[in-house]
Amino acid sequence: MNTPTATATTTLVTAPSSEAVNPPRAHLIDGKAASTRLLEEVTAGVAELATRGVTPGLAVVLIGEDPASQVYVRNKLKRTVECGMHSFEHRLTDDTSEAELLALVASLNADPAVHGILVQLPLPEHIQEDAVLEAIDPRKDVDGFHRMNVGALIQGADALAPCTPTGCMRLLRDTFVEQGGDLSGLHAVVIGRSNIVGKPMASLLLAANCSVTQLHSRSRNPAELCRQADIVVAAVGRPNMITAEWIKPGAVVIDVGINRIEQSAEDSPTGQARTRLVGDVDFTSVASVASAITPVPGGVGPMTIACLLANTLTAALRQSS
Ligand code: GUN
Repeated sequence: MNTPTATATTTLVTAPSSEAVNPPRAHLIDGKAASTRLLEEVTAGVAELATRGVTPGLAVVLIGEDPASQVYVRNKLKRTVECGMHSFEHRLTDDTSEAELLALVASLNADPAVHGILVQLPLPEHIQEDAVLEAIDPRKDVDGFHRMNVGALIQGADALAPCTPTGCMRLLRDTFVEQGGDLSGLHAVVIGRSNIVGKPMASLLLAANCSVTQLHSRSRNPAELCRQADIVVAAVGRPNMITAEWIKPGAVVIDVGINRIEQSAEDSPTGQARTRLVGDVDFTSVASVASAITPVPGGVGPMTIACLLANTLTAALRQSS
C-alpha cells in the first residue's frame, strides 16, 4: 500500500497523559487550514470574474427553525460575503407550502444575479425533497443534488459535485501529497450510503481509481470489511461508532459525522454538564492506529462551505462564458 505522508497541513496529535499505554500516533488533518487555502483561491477567482463585470451570487433558502440548519446557513452567508460574492437569503416559515417553495425556486432559476441555489435540507415533512431538488436549474445546483449532476458524477463527466464529499477528496489528496495526491489502487471503505455524502463519496473515490467498498446498516461483518481499508470515510451519523477495531494500522480516516452529545459534569472540562460535538469515529481510540485522521470539529466541516463557494464560482464562470 502507498503509505500516506504527513504534509504541511498535518500536525502530530498530542497524547493525553492518561493514554501513555496506547499513545495516539495519527497525524491530524487540518480541515480549517485546507478550507482557508481554498477560500483564498475562490476569493481570487471572484475578483478575476469581477473584472469582467460578473459577481457570483449564491441564494440560500432555509425553511423552519432547525437550530443546526440555522448555524450552517449563518456560516454560509458570512463566508459568501467574505469571498466577495453576493448572498441572497430566503428564510421561510415551517408552514410554507411546496407550491410556494417551487415558485421561489423558479424565480431564483430565472434571476441572472443568482448563479447558485441551495435549499437547506432537511425540509419539513409536507414538502417532497425530490420535487424541490429537481426543480433547481442543474447549472445553478451548487449542492450537486439534481439528478442530472448525480448522473454526470457517476459517469465521471463534468458535474457540480456535492460539497462534503468534494471536501473529503481534497483532504485525502492533501494527505497523499507525496504520491502527487494519487489515490490509485487504494482500497477505500465508505460507511454510509446517503445521497448527500455516502453515494457521491463512493463515486468520487471510484473516479480517483480507488477500489471502493460501501458499507451500510445491513452490511454483514462491517468492522472486518472496514479493517481491509487504506482509506475510511465515515458518514453514518452515529456518535463514536467506529472504534480502533475497525481500522487497519496506518489507514487514513475521514470523519464526516457531526453529532451533538450530552457530556456529564464529571466528564466536562468545565465541571458543568454541557453538549459537545463528536464525529462518527471514536477519535481517541482510532488515532492510536490510523496514520492520519480528521478531527471533529475542524476537519471536514469547514471544507463543505469552502467547496460550496468553489461550486458557486464554477457555476458563475460557466453561466457567464
Ligand atoms: N443539510 C446538511 N448538509 C447539507 C448540504 O450539504 N446541503 C444542503 N442543501 N442541505 C444540507
